[in-house]
Amino acid sequence: MGRRTYEELRSARWMAKDDLRSFGHRSRLMQLGYGPQDWVGRPIIAVINTWSDLNSCHGHFRQRAEEVKRGVLQAGGFPVELPAISVGEAFVKPTTMLYRNLLAIEAEELLRSHPVDGAVLLGGCDKTTPGLLMGAFSAGLPCIYLPAGPMLRGNWKGLPLGSGSDAWKLWDERRAGNISQAQWVEVEGGIARSHGTCMTMGTASTMTAIADALGMSLTGASSIPAVDASHSRMAAECGRRAVDMVWEDLTPAKVLSLASFKNAINVAMAVGCSTNAIIHLIAMSRRAGCAVTLDDFDAASRKVPVIANIRPSGDKYLMEDFYLAGGMRGLMSRLAQDHLDLSVMTVSGRTLGENLAGAQVYNDDVIRPLDNAIYNEGALAVLKGNIAPDGCVIKPSACSPQYLQHTGPALVFDDYPSMKAAVEDESLDVTADHILILRNAGPLGGPGMPEWGMLPIPVKLVKQGVRDMLRLSDARMSGTSYGACILHAAPESYVGGPLALVRTGDLITVDVPARSIQLNVSDAELAVRRAAWTPPPPRYERGYGWMFSRHIKQADQGCDFDFLETDFGAPVPEPDIF
Ligand code: FES
Repeated sequence: MGRRTYEELRSARWMAKDDLRSFGHRSRLMQLGYGPQDWVGRPIIAVINTWSDLNSCHGHFRQRAEEVKRGVLQAGGFPVELPAISVGEAFVKPTTMLYRNLLAIEAEELLRSHPVDGAVLLGGCDKTTPGLLMGAFSAGLPCIYLPAGPMLRGNWKGLPLGSGSDAWKLWDERRAGNISQAQWVEVEGGIARSHGTCMTMGTASTMTAIADALGMSLTGASSIPAVDASHSRMAAECGRRAVDMVWEDLTPAKVLSLASFKNAINVAMAVGCSTNAIIHLIAMSRRAGCAVTLDDFDAASRKVPVIANIRPSGDKYLMEDFYLAGGMRGLMSRLAQDHLDLSVMTVSGRTLGENLAGAQVYNDDVIRPLDNAIYNEGALAVLKGNIAPDGCVIKPSACSPQYLQHTGPALVFDDYPSMKAAVEDESLDVTADHILILRNAGPLGGPGMPEWGMLPIPVKLVKQGVRDMLRLSDARMSGTSYGACILHAAPESYVGGPLALVRTGDLITVDVPARSIQLNVSDAELAVRRAAWTPPPPRYERGYGWMFSRHIKQADQGCDFDFLETDFGAPVPEPDIF
């Protein structure tokens, strides 16, 4: 690989000239206490940090940023830390999905507007991975993704607790009167024991696994627990590597390809991925000019088995177990022969195949052999039919088998508050055969497509022992959720998608093996209902929400803004410097 000279670096345009503007740049760095020996001849590496006091998953990022900087300095670079919106999943309302694209814009413009040559991106909590990477892909500078790493296993009375998944399960037990208030407080204190992302195979672990499989992280980095000492060492290595990537001019365009996105889809299937992976990977692929579609996910789901025995698709283990069993390198070694293109490039400057040399699995129950999968078809299935002509998604590996083929009457809710009140009403006219429907919860209707798709089981049924039933919405659900939840119905009801036309009592047939979902109502009757449908008023009249509403795309297209996709506009030019 050829190496660039200092004069060819982007930052030299700011720093190296003998003119008044460059004088300003240099004098202001000197104001910060730096001198020429800090920047002359050195690539400037942005450390984009999504730390905040309200992102508990990124609580270690102040220290990690320092460790990245140590690595940058060791390799002869000049590190500069730039903060970005932290989008902490646990606190942001109405949903972090509203702000994924805002983070993508911020990451892109931070890189474009500042005198930096490359970047280390610190993220991990759900939307931060796609947000940072989408922005970095569009900015086009050499960059490396540092995943936050999963938190330690939860614990309550000696029982391991999984983020999200066990919260939902134990909440149902509390609703059924089986857990006291005092016990509930113990659960609150035990379910998140350290910094780091959710330690089930939720959206965070799914998306960092995808970044790993895409070649945008050091191979295997995504499974290192956040508080493990090797996570600190990995951070420093990211800093060192980012400097070399700048000299090598190893941009995302040289790392990414359609093959790397297909690899990422296959890895997502094998880990029993979050349903959110579909939306984010489609958006990321379109930014990178390597578009994948819902059909690619469905094709992969039919051939790649779920081999990571991690909750919620698995029944037993958590991310810490996955790491100790060999982690992502171990898992990818199992997929290598049949399901990965090993010739793809990675940020290491080596191919994926080279990076997997010597990778092993140390526990065959956590990372199963392909012939002893926990689920023989993939984690996700894409259904289509008259109720979702552009598709919807189910996670068969995390739902009760009897609901994979089912016909039942709809019970329709137009908004989240009315649904929430109704399911707590013990007189609700509902059986386990019903299909609960929530509409106006999509990209525009939510707004931001909140994670409302795992509708609560009505308390009347919970008390009868029911723990799963079919649910259908245009919402998303948390990757830590589970159950027979059909999500992402497109087009969404808020813009007049067919979900808007369903009435309580209509029969719906779901057939996952046939990949179909059908509203058993005649076309003539649906036409009558459509003529009577009126669009709801806009959610926003001003601000970011207003911009979001005008430019957000539907779920099957990744929910990016139409003006940001590579396919829809010419590359944005570098800023002129004078
Ligand atoms: Fe941050 Fe789950 S809340 S990863």
